[in-house]
Amino acid sequence: VKLFEPYPFPNTTKTSANRIALAPMTNGQSNDDGTLGDDEYNWLIRRAKEGFGIIFTCAAHVSKEGQGWAGELGIWHEDHIPGLKRLADGIHQYGSLAIVQIFHGGARSPESLTGVQPWSASSHEMTVGGDIKKIREGSISEIEDVIEAFVKAAQRAYLAGMDGIELHAAHGYLLHQFISSATNQRTDQYGGNFENRIRLVREILQRIKAILPPTFLVGIRISPEDKYTFKGIDFDESLRLAQILKEDGADFLDISTWDSFASPQKYPESQKPVISWFRKQLGANFPLFVAGELWSAAQAHQALNLGADFVSLGRVAIGIADWPSKAKDIQFEPQLPPYSALHLQKASLSHHFIEYMKRWKGFVADEPS
Ligand SMILES: Cc1cc2nc3c(=O)[nH]c(=O)nc-3n(C[C@H](O)[C@H](O)[C@H](O)COP(=O)(O)O)c2cc1C
Repeated sequence: VKLFEPYPFPNTTKTSANRIALAPMTNGQSNDDGTLGDDEYNWLIRRAKEGFGIIFTCAAHVSKEGQGWAGELGIWHEDHIPGLKRLADGIHQYGSLAIVQIFHGGARSPESLTGVQPWSASSHEMTVGGDIKKIREGSISEIEDVIEAFVKAAQRAYLAGMDGIELHAAHGYLLHQFISSATNQRTDQYGGNFENRIRLVREILQRIKAILPPTFLVGIRISPEDKYTFKGIDFDESLRLAQILKEDGADFLDISTWDSFASPQKYPESQKPVISWFRKQLGANFPLFVAGELWSAAQAHQALNLGADFVSLGRVAIGIADWPSKAKDIQFEPQLPPYSALHLQKASLSHHFIEYMKRWKGFVADEPS
């Protein structure tokens, strides 16, 4: 069945052994200076070993000021390359493809972590855990610097032997903040109408594609619609953006839906899941990833039948390290959360990552008292 069929990426020499990807997941297991931590290595290599065809790293920050979380992988300095190389080599040892997700947190880069006031497309206020944070508007020279930072990060990933990068333009981070009409009220060429709001992500993509060989995969993750407190994304604009990114030379698109079978909020009556809209928009031969509430083998098959080329597994891949081999049985229904700390430890999560997962409601079982 398709889930276990290899997938050769069009126009490149890269082939994934199957259609199962580990979704990019922040896990706090790297070092304070952004170099790779052993625990981060172990958690990812275990998934490669267990047969995930593609391993996405957590979001890695392209500049020091763009860090979003403590213990996050960095890709803003040459000192990060050896760790990234170790990771790429470890993943390749098991025949999986290694892709680094790269990002800048923008408004979501806390001053407590970076030491500087966060900036975004426009100045605004953001409430974080009851506190009101003041976000300032970035200057044109800061935008030029951030473009350069993304390009350099992609070069470092390439030098480290990674198979590609994914631009994180979802979940309310900097690239998403520029695309959004809510957080981008600029009046220069980077804001205002749709063409201007998507200029930043397009320039980054085009510059990376121009300097790295065509075999190096450059994809983009987007949030197709509003979610939680992140507003200003219109579904029809997202479809147009997908088409434009394809024409600009993107190698794949990754849709973060949070529910792979839901219809667009904008067209609830359509009975057609978001993923099928994107498939129709992009035509048959453009690699498309979907993530969101995929747990069982049957759900993964269904997502592929609805138009995805890859399923990106998040929480189930944390809990069930050997999901790929288990899913060879089409009836496979995984154990669902909450998982005990011992269970997660056996799935190659460090104590630190287990503590982090306690923030995700209902994921880690309460310890017996
Ligand atoms: C612990 C955790 C960390 C995450 N970190 C990231 C991240 O760094 N980048 C990203 O694009 N998505 C991140 N996500 C979202 C996942 O990639 C995925 O899209 C989401 O969890 C939905 O898939 P699921 O229902 O299979 O968990 C994270 C999710 C979890 C659970």
